Amino acid sequence: MKFEWKDEFSVGIKQIDEQHKTLISISNKFHNFLLDGKGASVIADVVKFLDMYVKIHFKTEETFMEQFGYPHTDEHKKEHAELVSFVDKLKTIVINGDVGQDDAIKLNIKLFQWYINHIGTSDKKLGNFLHDKPLKVVVIDKEIIDK
Ligand SMILES: [Fe+2]
Repeated sequence: MKFEWKDEFSVGIKQIDEQHKTLISISNKFHNFLLDGKGASVIADVVKFLDMYVKIHFKTEETFMEQFGYPHTDEHKKEHAELVSFVDKLKTIVINGDVGQDDAIKLNIKLFQWYINHIGTSDKKLGNFLHDKPLKVVVIDKEIIDK
């Protein structure tokens, strides 16, 4: 399964779209390794990247939500927390060193499902809410990545 960025995935907010493109691009590269049977060899790097980038991305969206009093903030944050906990679990598996091709496949499927379910619905809803707001680019403090 390959997941290419299409304009219909745009939520209409440039900073969010750019971050989604980065996430999709890394997932596609990961997918190519999987197809070559090399998923297990790169999953540690992919998890490390996601652990950092997903936090930056979610913090960006959540900052917009808080700045403008988004009414669905709690349920949206719950969805974010669910992916963070999935990545956290994988991080533990990677650290313990028993990560395999199965985990790599699971992660890849999870990411693609996430893009369809979360970006396609929750993020679009957020984008619609934000489209007429005076947004400024959110700058994320490096400290949140180290936590
Ligand atoms: Fe989101």
